[in-house]
Formats: sequence, structure tokens, C-alpha cells
Amino acid sequence: MSATAEPTITAKPHLPDAQTVTSVKHWTDRLFSFRVSRPKTLRFRSGEFVMIGLMGDTGKPLLRAYSIASPAWDEELEFYSIKVPDGPLTSKLQHIKVGDEIILRPKPVGTLVHDALLPGKRLWLLSTGTGFAPFASLLREPETYEKYDQVIMMHTCREVAELAYGQALVESLSDDPLIGELVGDKLRYYPTTTREPFHHMGRVTDNLQSGKVFADLGLPKMNPEEDRAMVCGSLAFNVDVKAILEGFGLHEGANSDPKQFVVEKAFVGDGI
Ligand SMILES: Cc1cc2nc3c(=O)[nH]c(=O)nc-3n(C[C@H](O)[C@H](O)[C@H](O)COP(=O)(O)OP(=O)(O)OC[C@H]3O[C@@H](n4cnc5c(N)ncnc54)[C@H](O)[C@@H]3O)c2cc1C
Ligand SMILES: NC(=O)c1ccc[n+]([C@@H]2O[C@H](COP(=O)([O-])OP(=O)(O)OC[C@H]3O[C@@H](n4cnc5c(N)ncnc54)[C@H](OP(=O)(O)O)[C@@H]3O)[C@@H](O)[C@H]2O)c1
Repeated sequence: MSATAEPTITAKPHLPDAQTVTSVKHWTDRLFSFRVSRPKTLRFRSGEFVMIGLMGDTGKPLLRAYSIASPAWDEELEFYSIKVPDGPLTSKLQHIKVGDEIILRPKPVGTLVHDALLPGKRLWLLSTGTGFAPFASLLREPETYEKYDQVIMMHTCREVAELAYGQALVESLSDDPLIGELVGDKLRYYPTTTREPFHHMGRVTDNLQSGKVFADLGLPKMNPEEDRAMVCGSLAFNVDVKAILEGFGLHEGANSDPKQFVVEKAFVGDGI
């Protein structure tokens, strides 16, 4: 045997539970979306969230909860993210590029799932800001249209530009070869702004309480026999919407106890 030295291969160190970034799109200076490879063994229900992150400066993983924005059938995973200027994770995550790795803990959980709701006629998806993310998954999930006659997507942001990710996603549905036909004319999209002029304005809460959204869409007032809802926004938004839904006679459900609506926080804290 000759004693020639093997060439040294300096492979990039792999992160634990590493997945590779396949695309990144910046929507505004505060919002971006990205897609990563999907672990072959990862099974999840559309609407659930996982922990994702990067390696922190201390050498420990820096992880945060993220709704999976892609549907359960997608070969990749998509995420829709805020950029918090001094946020421990997103101050770094906003700079990821195609080919980079992120950490993804493959343990999906969450309450914004079909199993947590009793059968109904109409499904209301109510969100603000990045609270749209779990609904980006559910809007591409065939079960959403198989289970309901009508699906109403209400999304409110301060400014028009912050609606762009949701708008593009909704527009893409009719051309989607897998679910385009299923969606048909079942989906009613109701985006609004609160701080910049737009064709429809006002908080989700105000538009529900005043009855404006029912009048605009030609729908009856929400009732516990026909209507089901999923809610995802800041804590204040969730609390206020919950009170309104309860006022319509709907009750909050859970995975173990399906009822008429379910709620999940889009983030922890009061806002940036
Ligand atoms: C169940 C669950 C699901 C989540 N899903 C998503 C998701 O799909 N996309 C996403 O961007 N974030 C999501 N978050 C928030 C996410 O976990 C992080 O908080 C966010 O990525 C910011 O991380 P950070 O370390 O940069 O700052 P953090 O220290 O985590 O947050 C700093 C502050 O920024 C504000 N903030 C954090 N996240 C948001 C947000 N999304 N919108 C507005 N203000 C925010 C809060 O005031 C928070 O106190 C989710 C949180 C929970 C609990
Ligand atoms: N630095 C920046 O450029 C910048 C820009 C925007 C936001 N921010 C900060 O980022 C944080 C998160 O922003 P965000 O836009 O994701 O979330 P947000 O401030 O909670 O607002 C998102 C939308 O939800 C509405 N809303 C807020 N509370 C509500 C409630 N209780 N019931 C019904 N509707 C409610 C808001 O309406 P209203 O407009 O009526 O409140 C707004 O249209 C905020 O705290 C904000 O201060 C920073």
C-alpha cells in the first residue's frame, strides 16, 4: 500500500435537521417568502406549523414557530415571513439565498386544521399580516373545497403592498392544475387595508360587526349552523375576533374537540 495522503475534502458543515433553500421572494421591506426542500418523512396537515431557524451565534439552534404556507401535497415547503429589524432570527433569516440551509424540526402541530372543525357550509379564513401564512396552505388544500360550498378569505393589512403575497396566491389558484377546478367559484377573497386607500377598507372585526362584508358578498350573517371559521393574527386581533364569533353563536373548538371555529397566534408579542 502506498502512503499517499488522501485529498482533504472541506465539505460545508451541515446544520442539524438541515433543509436547503430553493427560492426566495421579497414582497416588501418587511415581508418575504421562501421555499425549502421537504424531508421525505415529513407528514403534516395543511394549516399546521413547525419550528424553523438558523444556527445562533452561541452555536445553539435559534428556532421560531412558522406556519407551513404550502399545502400538504407540495413536494417542497413554503414559508411567509416578517422581517423584524432587530429580531434574533429574522434579522438573519431575511438574508437567506438559494442553496443556503435552514434548520427545520420535523414535528408539525397546530389548531388551524380541518379536523378541528365540525362540518359546515361556509369556511371563513380571517387574518392580518403574516397570519395569512396557514391559509396560504389551506387555500391550496383540496379538502378545503371538498368540505365547504363557500370559502371566504378575509386578509387585512395596513398598506396595499402588504397584501401582495396573498393576492398573488389567490390569483394563482384558478390556473393551478391540481385544484383550479375544485376552487371554481367557491372562493370569495376579501382583502382590506386600514391605513392606505384601497377598494375595500377596514378591520376584519369592523367589517364583520357592521355586517359590511356580508352585504358586500351577498352572504347571510354568520350563524353556528352553517358557518365555520379559522382565525390567525396578533393576540389582540384573535381576542377581538373570538368575541365577535361568539356573538354570532359560534364556539371555539380544538383538535380533540371540534366545534365551529379555531384560533392560532400569528406571533407572540405586541408587535414590532
Ligand atoms: C404558532 C406560531 C406561528 C407563527 N408563524 C409565523 C409565520 O408563518 N410567519 C412569520 O413571519 N412569523 C410567524 N410566527 C412568529 C415567529 O415565530 C417569530 O416571532 C418571527 O419569525 C420573528 O422572529 P425573531 O426572532 O426575528 O423575533 P422575535 O423575538 O420572535 O419577535 C420580536 C417581536 O416582533 C414581533 N413579531 C414577531 N413575529 C411577527 C409577525 N409574524 N408579524 C408581526 N410582528 C411580529 C413581535 O412583537 C415580537 O415580540 C409564528 C409564531 C407562532 C407562535
Ligand atoms: N416599521 C414599519 O415600517 C412598520 C410598518 C407596519 C407595521 N409595523 C409594526 O409591526 C407590527 C406588526 O405589524 P402588522 O402589520 O403585522 O400587524 P398589526 O399592526 O397588528 O396590523 C395588521 C392589521 O391588523 C389590524 N389590526 C390590528 N389590531 C387589530 C384588532 N385588535 N382587531 C382587528 N384588526 C386589528 C391593523 O389595523 P389598524 O391599522 O387599524 O391598526 C392592520 O390593518 C406592528 O406592531 C407595527 O407597529 C412596522
